[in-house]
Amino acid sequence: MALLLEWGDEAFYTYALISLFVFCPLTFLPLLVLRFHAPYGKHTRGGWGPLLPPSLAWFLMESPTVWLTLLLLPFGRHRSDPVALALLSFYLFHYIHRTLIYPLVIRKAPASSSSRGVPFAVAFAAFVFNLLNAYLQSRWITHFGNYTPGWLRTPKFAAGAAVFAIGMATNVWADRRLVALKREAGGGYKVPKGGLFELVSCPNYTGEIMEWLGWAIMTWSLAGLAFFLYTAANLVPRAAGHHQWYLQKFPEEYPRSRKRVIPFIY
Ligand SMILES: NC(=O)c1ccc[n+]([C@@H]2O[C@H](COP(=O)([O-])OP(=O)(O)OC[C@H]3O[C@@H](n4cnc5c(N)ncnc54)[C@H](OP(=O)(O)O)[C@@H]3O)[C@@H](O)[C@H]2O)c1
Repeated sequence: MALLLEWGDEAFYTYALISLFVFCPLTFLPLLVLRFHAPYGKHTRGGWGPLLPPSLAWFLMESPTVWLTLLLLPFGRHRSDPVALALLSFYLFHYIHRTLIYPLVIRKAPASSSSRGVPFAVAFAAFVFNLLNAYLQSRWITHFGNYTPGWLRTPKFAAGAAVFAIGMATNVWADRRLVALKREAGGGYKVPKGGLFELVSCPNYTGEIMEWLGWAIMTWSLAGLAFFLYTAANLVPRAAGHHQWYLQKFPEEYPRSRKRVIPFIY
């Protein structure tokens, strides 16, 4: 019976992992080719049903990454392994910030007239994605993965952790700059300036993509790779949408030399 349960568990994990890989092109192609941008923030448009206040939406849709991860932890065979716990703390660190602190940060800026809220449908889709992803990442680290006791001294871990840390610092810095700008603009939009904003339109997305690249390297796992690819598939087209939006909204003022999300390249 126990063997059967373990087999079912593994099969479920494998199907969940395959679906995350399949979601990558299914997300990337419509977003980039059809230029569909999720209808919140700069791309808000009517007809998407009831809206949630942005801070509540971010709290609810990101929350599975914290509660599901913590709920699954006691069921993992590596639940007391210091290496697994150290790895998992990177994931939790990002998502405790995103779920509990980021919603408080955006509450400080007045709501813009163009972005009154996040459609319930968008928040629900993100919630479901986060359920899937939290399951995959935490179950890999705490159960299916197998890290040697010396893993935290390997170049892969060191390189991944460094990329993750630089990515998270960039992401948090850029998000704070944007929210401060929104406050300055009384809830409206301004052209962001300074730091990495001189090179790309969306350094917060650059940082986020770097974080999950770092995660993929430090965990050296298919789950980490799938999440990195999905993040890029989602955020590279959205950055292209933001870039185009800036060029249209500020045709005189917006620096033409700026790239979208990858400095000097795209
Ligand atoms: N892992 C993933 O797949 C994923 C997916 C989505 C988001 N995220 C992360 O979640 C965070 C928020 O994402 P987002 O899509 O909401 O980012 P965003 O569009 O850049 O907006 C971030 C915040 O800054 C405000 N803002 C943006 N540009 C502004 C400007 N030029 N002037 C004044 N205010 C401005 C926005 O207000 P408005 O909302 O009113 O525009 C919002 O409060 C980011 O760190 C992102 O990396 C991750």
